[in-house]
Amino acid sequence: MANIFTSSIGKKLIMSITGLFLILFLILHMSLNLTSVFDASGETFQAVCDFMALPIVGIMVPILAAGFVIHIIYAFILTISNKKARGTQRYAVPNKAATDSWSARNMFILGLIVLLGIALHLTDFWAKMQLADWAGGEVANPNDLMAATFGSLYVTILYVVWFAALWFHLTHGFWSAFQTIGWNNEKWFNRWKWIANIFVTIIMFGFAVTAIVAHCRVAGYCCCC
Ligand code: HEM
Repeated sequence: MANIFTSSIGKKLIMSITGLFLILFLILHMSLNLTSVFDASGETFQAVCDFMALPIVGIMVPILAAGFVIHIIYAFILTISNKKARGTQRYAVPNKAATDSWSARNMFILGLIVLLGIALHLTDFWAKMQLADWAGGEVANPNDLMAATFGSLYVTILYVVWFAALWFHLTHGFWSAFQTIGWNNEKWFNRWKWIANIFVTIIMFGFAVTAIVAHCRVAGYCCCC
């Protein structure tokens, strides 16, 4: 009997479920970050970060980390087994290149860029807050970290490039996950693409606004934010 961990469809299903779980985390993360845009005093953002630091919320961290790790491991496994199945041929189906979107053909490399961005981001924020707390060190103020990170124009641009890579990765991933789950009849094939594009654009726009407003505040460009 085909096993969920070893069969091709089983592996895709694991990637889809962990991917959708990570998207749920991003919706929450983006919404909480937006509090820093709407309250320039930083008090709401500080309160939100204090809430996220409560032990009851901290239970979610290993589950989130497991979601990331499983998603990444299966990305490698699937990419390697797809390459083996194709042999020297670039595409298993000759006209696949023409039917696939640019994102679909570059999911693995987009995923690697996303991963590098996450490593940079965790070093900028998480390492100085939650990790410092676990290590018994001094926990940085999240508003100071926002100003320190997005005070640099280059870092802000790097983050926006990271959000763009995430946009490409997530629009295809979101749509593809629903295809894998089986919600892929003819009627919904294009509908899911539209839903994915609109939904992911809202999420990434929220992140980009947070970073850009933080930069504008430090640089003194904001008259009304
Ligand atoms: C403007 C954009 C963003 C800002 C200002 C931001 C801010 C933060 C802050 C303040 C923390 C530390 C929370 C704590 O330790 O209590 C954090 C953690 C984290 N961020 Fe972000 N983030 C942004 C975008 C993203 C994106 C796009 C991703 C994923 C692709 C992401 C993934 C994570 C992860 C995995 C953690 C560690 C888990 C956690 O503490 O919740 N972040 N972020």
